[in-house]
Amino acid sequence: MLGEFVPRDVAATLAERGRGLSQRLVDFSPDTVKASYNRRPFLVSHHLDQHPAFRLSSLFSLCRRLPPSEVKYRVGVIPDTADFDSSYARFSKGLSLDDVLDRFEQSKAYICIYNPERDPAYRPILEGILSEVAAAINECDPVITWYSTYVFISTQDSVTPYHMDREMNFLLQVRGTKRVALWDPADDEVMSPADKDRLLSMFGSKRATYSPAFESKAMTYELRPGIGVHHPFIAPHRVTTGPELSVSLAFTFRTQKSDKLTSAHAFNHLLRRCGWLPAEVGHSPLADGIKVVASKAAQMPISLLQKAWRARRMAT
Ligand SMILES: [Fe+2]
Repeated sequence: MLGEFVPRDVAATLAERGRGLSQRLVDFSPDTVKASYNRRPFLVSHHLDQHPAFRLSSLFSLCRRLPPSEVKYRVGVIPDTADFDSSYARFSKGLSLDDVLDRFEQSKAYICIYNPERDPAYRPILEGILSEVAAAINECDPVITWYSTYVFISTQDSVTPYHMDREMNFLLQVRGTKRVALWDPADDEVMSPADKDRLLSMFGSKRATYSPAFESKAMTYELRPGIGVHHPFIAPHRVTTGPELSVSLAFTFRTQKSDKLTSAHAFNHLLRRCGWLPAEVGHSPLADGIKVVASKAAQMPISLLQKAWRARRMAT
């Protein structure tokens, strides 16, 4: 899995470390976090646009020293309804990373740097943001269990198609502008209970798809350098860059609470596959708690079944 798991003993000290930082990169409003975190999107201000590590030249150097598998790219104009998961493979036009970096603007390129926190120069910066996030959400969601970061570099008018991720996010704009459309995952028309269970399932995980009928329900945020937006857990989104080169950092993370929700949804999906119609996750803490325990108990036989199925496929 991409990203970094946060050991329990480290998680326990993160918030304190974040509160003790002499220089902060993100300005969280405690009242806004308390009122809106994981309920609805909200804007934050930050200072990454003034940090030398996020200049284009520093980021291109990072691209050249990271393993090729950590730097994904697309070129040309892609439709905003393109399938998100296959878009890198379908729209790279056989160009190498060096080709893309050397002619970045001419090729209308889009680069995603996976996990810059694995680079020794970027790790302390991103661990600092991790502790700032932990301090900001400590009252409402105290245990961060995993995080993963991505830097997006795109030329004008590029689109990240409609999709949803399996975690929370702070998307921080460093250069240029972005329009971020977010949708409420609690809206059954946008994501049905079965859609959410399938997205978070242990196997056969699949994202719910876009419909033009959702357009009027979009919550739209305009990002510029120094401004970011919070994506609540599994909130669908679509991102469009403005008419200039854009750089942004996605700081994605999971917590003990979102892990429990994930397990409950995963167990619901299992029940649906067996023909049951389970109660929605989020309606009963007791039922959700039982599903979390059952999901963990089911993981072992499922992984054994998956191994046996794969071995059988290889043998035939
Ligand atoms: Fe995303």
